Parts: sequence; C-alpha cells; structure tokens
Amino acid sequence: MSRYSKAALQQAYQHCWFVVARSQDISKPKSAVLLGKDLVVFRDKDGNARVTDRYCVHRGGDLAIGEVCDSGVRCPYHGWTFDGGTGKCTGIPALPDPAKFPPNAPAIRAYPVIERFAHVWTCLEEPMFDLPNPPEIQNLDLDWRAAEPIPVPIGFMAATENFNDMAHFAFVHAGSMGKVSPIVDAMQINRRGRELSTTIHYPSIPGSEFSSMGDAWMHYHAYAPGIATILYDYGEGGHRYLVDFPSPVGPESAIIYWGSATASDFKHGSADEILALETKVFDEDTPIVSRIVPKEVPLDGKVREFSCSADILTLNYRRAVMDVVDKIQERFGYVHSEAAE
Ligand code: FES
Ligand SMILES: [Fe+2]
Repeated sequence: MSRYSKAALQQAYQHCWFVVARSQDISKPKSAVLLGKDLVVFRDKDGNARVTDRYCVHRGGDLAIGEVCDSGVRCPYHGWTFDGGTGKCTGIPALPDPAKFPPNAPAIRAYPVIERFAHVWTCLEEPMFDLPNPPEIQNLDLDWRAAEPIPVPIGFMAATENFNDMAHFAFVHAGSMGKVSPIVDAMQINRRGRELSTTIHYPSIPGSEFSSMGDAWMHYHAYAPGIATILYDYGEGGHRYLVDFPSPVGPESAIIYWGSATASDFKHGSADEILALETKVFDEDTPIVSRIVPKEVPLDGKVREFSCSADILTLNYRRAVMDVVDKIQERFGYVHSEAAE
C-alpha cells in the first residue's frame, strides 16, 4: 500500500490521541468507535475515566450495556467483571471458588486515557505525541462547555479543514455571521511539524449576533491530525476559546467533538450563551460538509482538487498531517511503497 492510502493512514492514526466521549456522558458505560475499533468508555467507582474493548472475552457480551461496579465494569451476560485500568478480569461469579481463575487469566484490552478540555481522549497504540496543552490558554481561567457531538459521513480531516477554513464564512454562515466579506486577506501561516498557527482580524459586522461583542483577533492554532482551536481576543472585552476535535470512526465517517470556553475576563455573555451561539454556527456547517465529495481529504493524490490562496491554512494543515504520518511510519517501522496501489 502507498504511504497515504486509507489503510496506511488508519494504521498511523492509531498512534494519535482522539476524543471518544464527553466527560459529562460516561457515568454509565457508553459505546464508541475509533478507527473501526469498538470501545466502551466509562467512569469507574474512583472517578477515573476508562476506555476498554467493548465486547467481553467470555462470550462477547456488550459491555456498553453493562454496569460500573466496585471492581470495574460488569458484563451484562454472565457477570464477569473487568478492571478498567488494566483490562484484567476481576471476578467470575459462576466459579464455585471465585479465587480459582482459568489458567490464562482472561482480560480485555484497556487503553490509555486523558481527560482534558471537557472530553475523554484515548490512543489505540503507543502514542507518538503528547496531547497538547496550548500555551496561549495557560494563563486563562476558562469555563468549559462540551458541545453536543456531531456525527458526519465524511473523514475527520475534511471536518477539521472546515474549522480551519475562512472562505466559507460568507456563504455558509450568512445567517449567524451576517454580511461577511467573501475576500480572504493574505495571512501569514506558521507551521512547525504538526503544529500550525495564524491570526486574522475579524471586524464586527453590524446586526450580526456572532460579532456583537466587537472586533476580534482570531488566533488559530492546530495540532495535526485532529486538534484545531481558535482563541478569540476582544481586547478589553476579554477572551473566549473554541475547540474542534473531529474523531475518526472510519475512513469516511467521523464524530465532531467540539467545545467552547469563556475566560474569566470575557465581558460579553455566559459560557452557555456562547455555546448556543457557536452551536448555530456549527449547525450551518453540518449540512454543507456532510455532502462533500470526496468524503475525505485525498492525501493519496487520487482525486485532483484545485486550491487558491485562501486555502493556505488548510493546505498547510494537509502538510502537517503528512508530516505526522511520515514520522509515525518511520518510528514504528511501517513500510509503504510510494507507488500507487
Ligand atoms: S459474555 Fe461476558 S460474562 Fe459471559
Ligand atoms: Fe463554518
């Protein structure tokens, strides 16, 4: 397979952190699919978020309809229990002597977990990168809201590109943003490896609810492959933060996890009001991006797309993803030919 074929990309992305649930949604076990892998996400009795395989190793019981118990998660079929941190079986109720486990102690696979930005993140194989702590928010006291996740029938890169695209504002967001100029001014992109950033000035548009808080500087900062953020700086009006974490369900399906946070210096509305405002914006994007073809960014070059100068941020994002994939393939010894399949 070539190094950017669907299969090669899915293999590489297993070494990247992605969101599998909102922190607020896992008091009971919840199913998730990441890169085709069936998972269950839950909060254990000690309050730790856990991610494990979804199906029980005994007879395939669905742990997503099981329950959290003192020793982990209990399978709904015959009641075996599994530790969420190690995946080890902690109990087999049918055994006359509960201490006598089968010779090879059964286990499901447990995955590493980080809770950050009001979401639960996991990585299916050894992580290539740390989950970032963006420096621009370190001194901000943020009030977070995790938005309702949006399933879309497109690849997660295509979804991430939408967040990093300014040329669609005038067409897709006339409802929320008002009469935005369709012209995208030249911008300076900074890219280092998988990280890219740029800043644009977003002038307030009269009558637009979206920009009722005044002129803003929008500081874009993305970490390929699937983390994109914008810090809005309103000067004396304070700061707010918007994050986009599209997560790959499969090669051409994703769940857009996203969220919004207001800083303690923000003077133009509550965290809930800003989330409602941004939800309108995302709801304008969804029907448009859900219908694009090709359904994922054609990194393998099999489909020709034409770009213009307004696409410089998303073109840099593509380079950043390729950089990530190259580094993962090199480090983990995945060998792919350059030839087309
Ligand atoms: S299938 Fe899970 S305990 Fe039997
Ligand atoms: Fe949009």
